[in-house]
Amino acid sequence: MEFEPTFSETNPQAGVVGQPMSRVDGWAKVTGHATYSGEYNRLPGLVHAVLKTSDVAKGRVQNIDTSAAQRAPGVLAIFTHENLPKLAKTPNSPDDRKAFVSSPMSFFPMASDQIYYAGQPVAVVVADTLERAQYAASLLKVSIAPEVPVSSYFDPKAQLYIPKTVKYMPGVTKRGDAQTAFASAPVQLTATYTHATIHHNPMEPGATTAHWEAPDRLTVYDATQGVLETQKTLAAMLGLATEQVRVVCKFIGGGFGCKAWVWPHTVLAPLVARAVGRPVKLVLTRPQQFTSMGHREEQSQTLRLGATREGKLLALIHDKSSTTSPWDDYAETNSRITNMLYALPTFEGTYHLAQANVMTSTSTRAPGDMPGAFAIESSMDDLAYQLGIDPIQIRLLNYAEKDPTNGHPWSSKSLKQCYQRGAELMGWNQRNPKNGQTRDGKLLVGYGMATASYPVHNSQGNARVRLYADGHAVVQAGATDLGTGTYTVMTQVAADSLGLPPENIRFELGDTNLPSTQWSGGSTAAGRVSSSVYLAAQDVWQRLIKLAVMDSKSPLFRAKPADVVMEKSRLHLKADPSKGEAFSEIMKRAGLGDIEGSALGRYGSGYEAAQATAVADPSKKDHASEHSMHAFGAHFCEVHVDPELGTVRVTKWVSVIAGGRILNPKTARSQVMGGSIFGIGAALMETTERDPHYARYTNADLAGYHVPVNADIPDMTVEFIDEHDPYVNAMGVKGIGEISIVGTSAAVANAVFHATGRRLRSVPMTPDKVL
Ligand code: MOS
Repeated sequence: MEFEPTFSETNPQAGVVGQPMSRVDGWAKVTGHATYSGEYNRLPGLVHAVLKTSDVAKGRVQNIDTSAAQRAPGVLAIFTHENLPKLAKTPNSPDDRKAFVSSPMSFFPMASDQIYYAGQPVAVVVADTLERAQYAASLLKVSIAPEVPVSSYFDPKAQLYIPKTVKYMPGVTKRGDAQTAFASAPVQLTATYTHATIHHNPMEPGATTAHWEAPDRLTVYDATQGVLETQKTLAAMLGLATEQVRVVCKFIGGGFGCKAWVWPHTVLAPLVARAVGRPVKLVLTRPQQFTSMGHREEQSQTLRLGATREGKLLALIHDKSSTTSPWDDYAETNSRITNMLYALPTFEGTYHLAQANVMTSTSTRAPGDMPGAFAIESSMDDLAYQLGIDPIQIRLLNYAEKDPTNGHPWSSKSLKQCYQRGAELMGWNQRNPKNGQTRDGKLLVGYGMATASYPVHNSQGNARVRLYADGHAVVQAGATDLGTGTYTVMTQVAADSLGLPPENIRFELGDTNLPSTQWSGGSTAAGRVSSSVYLAAQDVWQRLIKLAVMDSKSPLFRAKPADVVMEKSRLHLKADPSKGEAFSEIMKRAGLGDIEGSALGRYGSGYEAAQATAVADPSKKDHASEHSMHAFGAHFCEVHVDPELGTVRVTKWVSVIAGGRILNPKTARSQVMGGSIFGIGAALMETTERDPHYARYTNADLAGYHVPVNADIPDMTVEFIDEHDPYVNAMGVKGIGEISIVGTSAAVANAVFHATGRRLRSVPMTPDKVL
């Protein structure tokens, strides 16, 4: 048994979807019964691998003297670029890369003597205990001939270029003639925003345990947001068939995008395990976490905003410059949100990259939208103050009634309600609209707000339901629970879909042996998995109906299947509820102990979504793909600024989110609070500093990398707008994992501006910038 789920009380009169049920995995997690990827300690003969990494950011390995380490107690093997077993495919080869599902970086280390970034693995030491492996690694003498590295896009040695694409978007996007429209705009605002490098820092670092159960059968316990993607990528790199690799991830201590991909340590663990013939555990240290799983890149954005004197937007020109690695044209796509957030007639967005000696950056919660919103939502605040218009009014004046990028209607949009409710909860209209005027003792007080939005990405996946005649069910989908409540909400969805109490449901996830489903990322898991679970339960009912109408002993004998409905755990005629019976009766007579159903759930506007709308509104089913799908919301905050110390304290926080159906208001509220705290961290304290000379992080640990603690965070108010979206998927769920961080930096910056009259365009807004 993986863990014993526990159930809080729910109202038995109502469906459990929408009730604030506590986490079914809560007890297992807080008591240590939940097994994380680095905790499979009972595998027979388990040994430990540690990485030795380069302190030098650029150069060539001249020599690695392993002699002392080889003699250290308990050492089984030491691998360097000279003896690391060959991979079947590596991302270093452009042809091989095509076979990959989920390798974020076109580089695999230890294939040559070249060093490209500080923190790059140069050796793997395997020993019988962790301590012995660490000790042996400390005995390695690594000689590297250093070269002068490029530290960032603003290093004088860096060369900026416009890439063809930045992975998901063209290097240049144009809609209309923004240059001409800007040049002739009566109001022109130009501003540059900068964003520090930040790191995801999940509580559980990257962790992989690799067990070769036979020469052609590998099980990997990996801290990953996507077991399916990890399975396919590992199979390609290790030269196995997909079904020869099983990937398991039952619990994950947060991911935030860094666990959405397969990074080198996840490949090295099975590679060295095969060589030593023992199961191998490899867990990154906290400092290694900063150089092993990507980061949000440092960046600067220049926005040129043209508007009428009444405040109507005419043009936006958005230029981003950022640092990338020596191999990849990667940038998070900030212009996605700046292009779509307002009724904007013209737009031009351009990405500028410079290669530096750093690993490839990666998706970090709300990639692109988060820093993009900092820029556009600060500029909208500027425009409001410059024209003497209320910040909410300026947003309503430019409200996008349809998607400006393609003219499509929204599948649903409740942003006006978010503004209105947020303003009420915040007491927005009672504030003095002039900045620098409100004090609490010696502290300056300010209110700020910003819009939030996040797209509904396309995704798909399977689920399976096994219903037992005794009224219990096992429900499965190979997704990951990021810690946000997937186990819990899917238990609720399965309970309602099967008409059973949640205590009778066991929901299983996190294993490639379960029905395959795409990653838990891009805020897709709640909508996709809930829809596939719901549809799999429908499949079970259809099978039961077929059995009943063919069974001469059933009250439903010879009924038309379409005339039969399911309510609670009973099937009956739509027209005559008295004619029917419990599903257990049907199964008993058929001699069935259990019955299985399965379904493919699809999500987002890229699909025709016929099944998605089968539930909600069949008349609309052909039009799902012609809608733009986004969640919307608004964040409001109050800050106190100490004008002598330059400290900013968030004293009040309100988030109002419209994300379609909310499956569980308790886990949803926690998720939005977590996202907003993540955002407050980025706004006020998080920064990974790189030494400009050595191109090395100087604060790669949780002592030097500041994140908010309880004392930094006020009581937070989170509300959801009741929103019914007939298009997004079968359950009407848009996802709320990422929207909660979008706009947060701008809400804080706008509040600091209101408090002090000083516009801060550089995050984090540390005291040195505030003063
Ligand atoms: Mo999220 S940054 O798509 O895991």
